[in-house]
Amino acid sequence: MSTPNAGPEPLAAAASRPLTGRIRVPGDKSISHRALMFGALALGETAIEGLLEGEDVLGTASAMRAFGASVTRTGAGAWRVSGVGVGGLLEPEGVIDYGNAGTGVRLAMGLAGSHAFATTFTGDASLCRRPMGRVLDPLRRMGVQVLARSRDRLPLTIKGPSVPLPIEYRVPVPSAQVKSAVLLAALNTPGVTTVIEPVMTRDHTERMLKAFGAAIEIETGEDGARIIRLEGQRDLKPQPIVVPGDPSSAAFPMVAALIVPGSDVTIENVLLNPMRTGLIETLIEMGGDITIENRRDVGGETVGDIRVRSSRLKGVVVPPERAPSMIDEYPVLAVAAAHAEGRTVMEGLGELRVKESDRIAAVAAGLAANGVAVEEGPESLTVTGPTAKLGGGTVKTHLDHRIAMSFLVLGLSSEVAVAVDDAGPIATSFPEFRTLMTALGASFGAPETGA
Ligand code: S3P
Repeated sequence: MSTPNAGPEPLAAAASRPLTGRIRVPGDKSISHRALMFGALALGETAIEGLLEGEDVLGTASAMRAFGASVTRTGAGAWRVSGVGVGGLLEPEGVIDYGNAGTGVRLAMGLAGSHAFATTFTGDASLCRRPMGRVLDPLRRMGVQVLARSRDRLPLTIKGPSVPLPIEYRVPVPSAQVKSAVLLAALNTPGVTTVIEPVMTRDHTERMLKAFGAAIEIETGEDGARIIRLEGQRDLKPQPIVVPGDPSSAAFPMVAALIVPGSDVTIENVLLNPMRTGLIETLIEMGGDITIENRRDVGGETVGDIRVRSSRLKGVVVPPERAPSMIDEYPVLAVAAAHAEGRTVMEGLGELRVKESDRIAAVAAGLAANGVAVEEGPESLTVTGPTAKLGGGTVKTHLDHRIAMSFLVLGLSSEVAVAVDDAGPIATSFPEFRTLMTALGASFGAPETGA
C-alpha cells in the first residue's frame, strides 16, 4: 500500500538524447484488479501471469485476503489465488485501506455489497475526495446500507442485505467502474441483474466474466445502448490469466518517443482492446509515426508491439465520443499537443474532474507553468503549440500518478527542465517508469540541479 508518511518526492526531467530501444511496460491495471477479484470468487485456483505489482493492485491483493481468499506471489508478476466461491467472502476484520485506488475500492464495494456483513473502506487524501455515490446509488437499490461521515465519500461502511435484490440499472455516467461494481454485486444476487450502458466503456469485466463461466449475455438495444444481463449465484470456474501490458502506461513512452527528436522506441506486448486505443488513433491523426507489429490474441484480448518514431505533430479536434477509449490518456495527449503545430481541442472531458485529481485543472496549471498556451473549459482543454520556450515550471501533481508521468515526459523535450513536486504516486500504477524511461535515454534528476 502507499506510504503516506514518506513525504513528497520531487523529480525533474530535462531535454534528452534520442530515446531508443525495446521495452515492456507492466501489466494492465484494469485487468490486474479484476483477475484478483474474479480469482477470489472462483472455486479453486486461478494462476495469474504478468500481474501489475503497483500499489493500487497490491491493495486489491490485500483486500481479497481480508475477504478470505488465499493470494500468493509465486514469482515476478506470477500470482495464485484460491477463491472462496460466489457468496463465500468473509467479513474483514479490519478497515480496508485502498490507498489511491479508485478502481480497486469501487469494484470491491460491489463485491462486498452483496454479502450480509459490514465492510469499512478508506483511502488516501485523493481517494477520500472522490465521489462514491455513483457506485453506492445502485448498491443501495440492491439493498445495501451505507454509513458515511460525509455524504458518499470515504471513509464509509457498507452492509449488505441478507438477500440482495436484482436491479435494472442504466449507468448515468460513462464509467466502467460503476458498470463493474454492479456486475460484481450481481454475482451473488439471486435472479437476473441488468446493466444498461448508453455509452460503451472498457469491457474487461464482461470478457473475464464470460471466461470464468458466468451466465452473462450482452445485446444492443434499439437506442444503441449495450444491455448486459447477468444471472447471479452461479459458480465461477478458475481460469489461467495472462495480463498484457497496460496501454495507459505505454502512453508515456509513446508520447515521449514522438516528441524527443530522433527517437525510435518499441513497446512490446501491449493490450490493444478497442476500448483502450483512442490515444493511438488520435496520435496517428496528429501525424504520429506509429505502427503496430506482431498483432496477436492473448487470452481473449488483442495484443501487439507498438513502434513509435519521433514525428512532426499537428493539432487536431478530438471528438467527445472518443473519451471512453482514452479517458486516462488526456494528460499525456495534452503534452503531445504542446509540441504540435496549431490547436488541439479536447472535448467531453467532464469525467476528468473526478479522477485521482481534477485532471483538467491540473493539466492546465502544469502547462501554463511551463509556458504552454492552454485554455480550460468546464469540460474541455485546448492546447496551442508548438511552444517557443518550453519548461522551467514546477508542476503540482495532487497525488496523481498520471499528472506526474505526463509532465516528466514534457520535460524530456523542453528548453528548460520541468519539475514535478511529487513523483511518489507513480508507484501506484507504473513503479518501473523511471528505470524503463532512463534505459531508453530519458534524463531525470533532482529539481535543484535542473536534472
Ligand atoms: C477503470 C475505469 C476508468 C479509468 C480507470 C480504470 C476500470 O474509470 O479511468 O483508470 O478499470 O474500470 P471510470 O470508470 O471512472 O471511467
